Amino acid sequence: MKPVKVGVLGLGTVGGGVVNVLTRNAKEISRRAGRKILVTHASARNLTQERICDTQGIELTTNSLDIINDPEIDIILELIGGTTLAKNLILQAIENGKHIVTANKALIALHGNEIFAKASEKGVMVLFEAAVAGGIPIIKAIREGLSGNQIEWLAGIINGTGNFILTEMRDKGRDFSEVLAEAQVLGYAEADPTFDVEGIDAGHKLAILASLAFGIPLQFEKVFTEGISNISRADVEYAEELGYRIKHLGIARKTEQGIELRVHPTLIPERRLIANVDGVMNAVLVQGDAVGPTLYYGAGAGAEPTASAVISDVVDVVRVLTGDPEHRVPHLAFQEDAISDIPVLTSEQIQTAYYLRLTAEDKPGVLAEVTRILSNHNISIEALIQKEPLEGKTVVPVIMLTQTTLEKEMNAAIIEIEALSTITGSISRIRLETLG
Ligand code: NDP
Ligand code: HSE
Repeated sequence: MKPVKVGVLGLGTVGGGVVNVLTRNAKEISRRAGRKILVTHASARNLTQERICDTQGIELTTNSLDIINDPEIDIILELIGGTTLAKNLILQAIENGKHIVTANKALIALHGNEIFAKASEKGVMVLFEAAVAGGIPIIKAIREGLSGNQIEWLAGIINGTGNFILTEMRDKGRDFSEVLAEAQVLGYAEADPTFDVEGIDAGHKLAILASLAFGIPLQFEKVFTEGISNISRADVEYAEELGYRIKHLGIARKTEQGIELRVHPTLIPERRLIANVDGVMNAVLVQGDAVGPTLYYGAGAGAEPTASAVISDVVDVVRVLTGDPEHRVPHLAFQEDAISDIPVLTSEQIQTAYYLRLTAEDKPGVLAEVTRILSNHNISIEALIQKEPLEGKTVVPVIMLTQTTLEKEMNAAIIEIEALSTITGSISRIRLETLG
């Protein structure tokens, strides 16, 4: 059979990794796909730049439309990133009847509904395994492996850069900005690294996972996001004393009221496997009603782990290239006419437990006032520790763990506690999940 011709848009970390792995493993991959897969064309901004891959035999261009408009090319890999150019190129390629594989989570989270609708209309596939959790086949697992389950919740470390920074800071006491710079050199970070550290990238990925898990449209704009830049060394140390680790988690949970979609630093009991996922590694815990908890672990970023995911999509496309479009796995796991409109909850409707750290005057009655305010808001305290006064000071750090409560009540209680004359500065609040 004729080889399948692939055009690669973008030859950076991921594009370069894909060319390398497709070349190195060509034989094994074609044994799986049933046909040879050839990268015949590729685009980049600067054709004279040194590449991580060998581009010999590949026709290079700075104009991606040359590739998209070439009738000989069967599959387009969009590995440029961003949401404007990438969207236009993908829509044009779909219009031209090409199948698409992309690693672009921002694009799928923001414009996936429109892209999938157009792809279905044109009978082409748009696959995006690399968009979530790098090399972990989490999309295939949820879309296909767990299709017999009602998914109750999922929680994941889904940004490699953020987890790398938190791990290096905790284990080696390294500085935030120094570790971020290293993540950029290693090719882990987004073009705009605030996407990694402020939870936007994880929010994009969570919107995708939630859509696949619950059969809802992609709704990135409803994801609550909080970044890691405010996590202090003190919080990391107190959390460890209490038997917890702080991880930047994406959490999607179906409740009777609607769906929680949130990304924020989270205390997790240190005995949980996911609490021990370090460095650039990612992990996603998915709770299905039939299977129970399942955990998926692997490299969350980097050239070849991401290439592994991209190529698995290419193989899937090749395997069904000539099949009937109606018998393909739906883009978002559920049949298009069965997508549900379950509401996504606001951040005030979230229910979770909390870690609170406050600085209080070291005198009688102060803690009683704090606990009275919490109790007025129906917040029960699980643990309370008063530390020694800081050297030369008359104030003490107080650490509290609460039971699960409504975020709205916690917001109101924090405002009242911070207003007390006996409390100094602002309260450090980190959400806590037992993931049991
Ligand atoms: P890079 O910045 O390393 O690569 C981007 C590539 O796109 C470069 O080769 C660049 O060309 C090319 N490019 C940019 N603008 C144009 C243009 N106008 N026309 C043609 N080519 C263009 O990014 P990554 O490889 O890291 O990321 C690519 C995508 O993969 C993003 O969507 C990212 O979110 C996603 N992703 C990245 C992962 C990672 O670990 N890095 C993991 C999972 C997903 P030039 O080289 O000449 O500048
Ligand atoms: N910047 C992303 C991360 C790349 O660090 O997780 C993988 O999606």
